[in-house]
Amino acid sequence: MLLQKNKLICLLLCVHIALTAGAKKYKDYKNFKYYDVKGSEEGLENLKNILQEDGDKLLYVTSRRSTEVVVAPELNMKFREIAALEKLNATLLYNDISKVIQLEKASPLRKSKKCITWDAYYDVDDIYRYLTKMSKTYSKFTEPIVGGKSYEGRPIRGLRINTPTRNGETKPVFFIESGIHAREWIAPATTTYFINQLLTSADPNVTRLRDQFDWRIFPTVNPDGYHYSHTFDRMWRKTRSISSNGCIGADPNRNWDYNWGKESTSHDPCHYQLYCGSQPFSEVETRTLSSYISKIDNLLFYVSFHSAAAILLLPLSDSTEHVDNYDDLIQIGNASLEYGSKVNNVRYDSIGTAAEILYPASGGSMDWVRHTFETPLAYTYELRGSSFHWPPRRIPEQGNEVVQMILGLATEAKKLKYY
Ligand SMILES: *[C@@H]1O[C@H](CO)[C@@H](O)[C@H](O)[C@H]1NC(C)=O
Ligand SMILES: *[C@@H]1O[C@H](CO)[C@@H](O)[C@H](O)[C@H]1NC(C)=O
Ligand SMILES: *[C@@H]1O[C@H](CO)[C@@H](O)[C@H](O)[C@H]1NC(C)=O
Repeated sequence: MLLQKNKLICLLLCVHIALTAGAKKYKDYKNFKYYDVKGSEEGLENLKNILQEDGDKLLYVTSRRSTEVVVAPELNMKFREIAALEKLNATLLYNDISKVIQLEKASPLRKSKKCITWDAYYDVDDIYRYLTKMSKTYSKFTEPIVGGKSYEGRPIRGLRINTPTRNGETKPVFFIESGIHAREWIAPATTTYFINQLLTSADPNVTRLRDQFDWRIFPTVNPDGYHYSHTFDRMWRKTRSISSNGCIGADPNRNWDYNWGKESTSHDPCHYQLYCGSQPFSEVETRTLSSYISKIDNLLFYVSFHSAAAILLLPLSDSTEHVDNYDDLIQIGNASLEYGSKVNNVRYDSIGTAAEILYPASGGSMDWVRHTFETPLAYTYELRGSSFHWPPRRIPEQGNEVVQMILGLATEAKKLKYY
């Protein structure tokens, strides 16, 4: 009888859990406003501090030109008052971002999940299926690779592309990661676009590019967060680990073991955007991925894709002091932007260290790699877009830019005899 009763309680509990889980739906951001705000640094800081109290009701993205903020409808009045008080120039970009989010999610062209088509954004399982499919189709010179794992137990899947050389000599490694910030959807989309070009393009410049390197490419290095941004909250940025106080996630690009916890980070586990974790490499994603990177010999290029500021960043992100090959990094990066600008006649705004052209930030992947291995050529691309939105039908536009930008990197680096 007792057993029976326990079973019944268990059953009821299960039904309850199933129902409440089912009830959790995609956060719609109905009537959330999207502003571009310009003004004094102090004014912007005051605005953020006053409105930040309720963490996920004010989201912001800072670029050199301005700060873009997402404001909950109930904070809108207060936002306008403070903006007026601080003499900030707030331009309303979207009156209701839920409409942008719906447009992104509705992908009428998404037919087969076995194929991804670069006119829609795909969740992590679809991206992984694509990687598996390509590794089978091109099995002579590609292999599936696993760079680590996530808190919820997903592998961090990638693709190695390494065409055979005549004498079997090893090639320099070109490492690419994207999706470390979950909501920056255009980044994984352009990375898979780039993979597809490397494998299928008939352009001799692109096939030559493919053959020059041993590629290790990981489109979604924060797979839990990325999945969460597809299923529950479009604006999710962090991992999905649970802190001792119950708050969820850490910013995986503030969690690497170099100058951890200093600039542009928060030590509050409930901070919606910038919590740096309880210690360096507290997140299993960064810990396991860094261990994978440690085992690579001959790492020449480390490239990370983010969005959206249309700039190119060099190490180190939290210092205005320059690394020893800074001039080369600028020259090579300039060539990259020059190549990219020819595709759509759009030029990125600038190139430099984050501390100089964006804001100082500590604990990012690029800086850890550069500092730990003295990897000569490390870059972070901030792709284009308004906030984290980019129309899905226009993914190839940035995809083609990325192909040319990487071609520009490789071509100029060769000129300077880096390989
Ligand atoms: C405020 O922004 C608008 C739109 O970008 C611009 O036209 C206007 O000149 C700006 N005003 C000031 C005072 O900066
Ligand atoms: C390949 O690269 C060369 C030299 O940079 C350039 O002149 C040519 O236009 C490129 N070809 C294509 C198809 O883009
Ligand atoms: C890079 O480009 C910028 C602007 O296009 C230019 O001012 C700078 O001199 C260039 N630097 C190098 C090293 O080519």
